Amino acid sequence: MAKNDDNLLKKIVSHSKEYGFIFPSSEIYDGLAATYDYGQNGVELKNNIKQYWWKSMVQMNENIVGIDSAIFMHPTTWKASGHVDAFNDPLIDNKDSKKRYRADVLVEDHIAKIEGKINKEVAKAAKRFGDAFNKEEFVSTNPRVVGYKEKIASIEKRMQEAIDTQNYDDFKTLIEDLDISCPVSGSKNWTDVRQFNLMFSTELGSVAGEASTIYLRPETAQGIFVNYLNVQKSARMKLPFGIAQIGKAFRNEIIARQFIFRMREFEQMEMQFFVKPGDELDWYEKWKEKRMKWHKALGLGENSYRFHNHLNLAHYANAAADIEYDFPMGFKELEGIHSRTDFDLTAHENHSGKKLQFFDPQENKNYVPFVVETSIGLDRMFLAVLSAAYNEETLEDGSERIVLNIPPALAPTKVAVLPLTKKDGLPEKARELIDELKFDFTAQYDEKDAIGKRYRRQDAIGTPYCVTIDHQTLEDNTVTIRDRDSMEQVRVAIGEVRVTLEKSTSLTELLRKN
Ligand code: GAP
Repeated sequence: MAKNDDNLLKKIVSHSKEYGFIFPSSEIYDGLAATYDYGQNGVELKNNIKQYWWKSMVQMNENIVGIDSAIFMHPTTWKASGHVDAFNDPLIDNKDSKKRYRADVLVEDHIAKIEGKINKEVAKAAKRFGDAFNKEEFVSTNPRVVGYKEKIASIEKRMQEAIDTQNYDDFKTLIEDLDISCPVSGSKNWTDVRQFNLMFSTELGSVAGEASTIYLRPETAQGIFVNYLNVQKSARMKLPFGIAQIGKAFRNEIIARQFIFRMREFEQMEMQFFVKPGDELDWYEKWKEKRMKWHKALGLGENSYRFHNHLNLAHYANAAADIEYDFPMGFKELEGIHSRTDFDLTAHENHSGKKLQFFDPQENKNYVPFVVETSIGLDRMFLAVLSAAYNEETLEDGSERIVLNIPPALAPTKVAVLPLTKKDGLPEKARELIDELKFDFTAQYDEKDAIGKRYRRQDAIGTPYCVTIDHQTLEDNTVTIRDRDSMEQVRVAIGEVRVTLEKSTSLTELLRKN
């Protein structure tokens, strides 16, 4: 299915609900904005993605170990990490609609409108000049387009300066100068721009007066940093080594939208790689390459990924890049790879008074290691898999099917076993096979409806193989195996089902490509 299809995301949302991948959270109470629950198929797919990441990052690297740290952490953690003071979004309210917006998003939406005008000019010219049209030359010489581009550059410069200097009066002036109106009320009656911290807070302790504010972690990484020494000493790790974990993170996103792309409760898979100072940029390049390989091994599309190297670096980073994926809404951040220097460990040393160093026997000295981090959103990865997998096909006989071409190793159900009829001992034979397979594979039994309908149901949840038990099975112990993608069926001895599943649905082949 072509990307940038406006309807694709909507289709994925409704398919996810209909087939038990993702439900709106607490739906019977009309749901809670930007919060979702994973259903019976969603949880299997999510667990398989986690397993692919965990095996690749932890079990296949001798020098990386995993942990599972608590969501609640000592409040000073977030002071040290900078989240208390600097994890803010600039917000503005419209006084008439009472709607709240991220100020930078309002400006970015305005820029997108100007870009739309450029695209219109390009399309018009392409039509006028036909084959002779040279887009590059046109956009760099056409006075109207050049004017639009200059306008965008000047807006971006003003916004960046306002963010860098935290001058929120200038931010408001920019919004007023651009004549931006509220998409809901249409008015330009704006409040001042204010900072809004994205961390959720709650109170620890039940006795009045003894409570103290604690935060739901906005990233899993700090649980790794504060355990650096525990892991290094207990596992006797030498630099370079990594600590990985998978877990929930929480951010009070103001504009949470685009399904599971931006949520307030989400899951991260993060790895901090501790290296000798000076070696970090080599490791940063290595991890960029390794992580891209991990993604591409899934076969979701060679051209579906790109790097976005950050030009404006956070004060603690000396290099940073995103791996962007071509989601239904276009290329967006899927994973971040950051060279974070010694910022976090040093900040925790300063705030805790505890040394977080490594004794280097070759250099005969202690130092704070530098860190290269890889950080991927599990839910975004889930959305990437679903959007690549969702396909509507018209078959040779003119009928249509929706199929999820999920990489077999990630598919929620690996095999469906279907007795052709509900009688003559076929159900019993089918159950015998399932009972054998279920130790190693997720398997479903289905006897309801005509066989074609049952195949469609399995296609819709991405089951790579359907095994049909028919009367011939009772005679010669053979079954048909139907391949989800080609829809081809072959008759094989019943014992071969396991061999096919082992070969085609295990993570091993994927991991070999890493
Ligand atoms: N420790 C670094 C860190 O947290 P980040 O770029 O803020 O970096 C890492 O987040 C990844 O987490 C992102 O690339 C994205 O995949 C995911 N992520 C961030 N905010 C998210 C949200 N609100 N909803 C879903 N995923 C999110």
